[in-house]
Amino acid sequence: MILDRLFAAGYDVIFQRAERGGLTAMRAEAIGDLSGTVVELGAGTGLNLAHYPAAVDRLIATEPDPHMVKRLRAKVAAGEGGGPERVTVAQAGGERLPLQDGEADAIVCTLVLCTAPDVPGVLAEAVRVLKPGGRFRFVEHVRADGHRHAAWQDRLNRPWGALAGGCNANRDTLAALRAAPGLEVRGVRDDSFPGVPALVRPLIRGEAVRV
Ligand SMILES: C[S@@+](CC[C@H](N)C(=O)[O-])C[C@H]1O[C@@H](n2cnc3c(N)ncnc32)[C@H](O)[C@@H]1O
Repeated sequence: MILDRLFAAGYDVIFQRAERGGLTAMRAEAIGDLSGTVVELGAGTGLNLAHYPAAVDRLIATEPDPHMVKRLRAKVAAGEGGGPERVTVAQAGGERLPLQDGEADAIVCTLVLCTAPDVPGVLAEAVRVLKPGGRFRFVEHVRADGHRHAAWQDRLNRPWGALAGGCNANRDTLAALRAAPGLEVRGVRDDSFPGVPALVRPLIRGEAVRV
């Protein structure tokens, strides 16, 4: 679809303000101490690639959208994230990952659960591929706590999604994480998505552990 193509083409520019306002620091904090085999869900254009530390010896960067994948592959081919020696790009949704059971030490999921059509399916697949004790790191914008703000998110959800690559402004992602069998949320911080409309500003970041 033309809008998907435009969203992918403009993504890095659209995100510049948010990145400078603090999103880059949130990415670094979510990723910077990981190690071993890491899977990234919905890796988009690859804005997380720069943050993987040397202790990550293998990164499987997954992404379902072909326009995003094209950009992701180009960055990896140019050496970002350690280049093709360390990073494998796979065109795949989070509901079906190209990994064996228990193969991953960690999963990185930034700004993806707002868009994935089947959040319980994505989380079940994460549980399948994570080792026991494996980490699921997330940075996600979420449904507002306040009734009026949430009602506004509900009202504008459709037009917002049409402009923003199918994103939902009003998802209660923390409830979904807490309800996911096999994941235990350990540490979650309320924060604010910098440089974006108030509609999508409530944000959570933290970790769930595969139990
Ligand atoms: C707002 S972008 C975030 C991209 C990237 N994670 C980042 O932090 O910049 C949302 C991404 O989720 C991807 N996505 C949509 N449905 C998905 C699914 N079912 N599984 C995994 N990713 C999905 C989209 O293609 C898009 O790249």
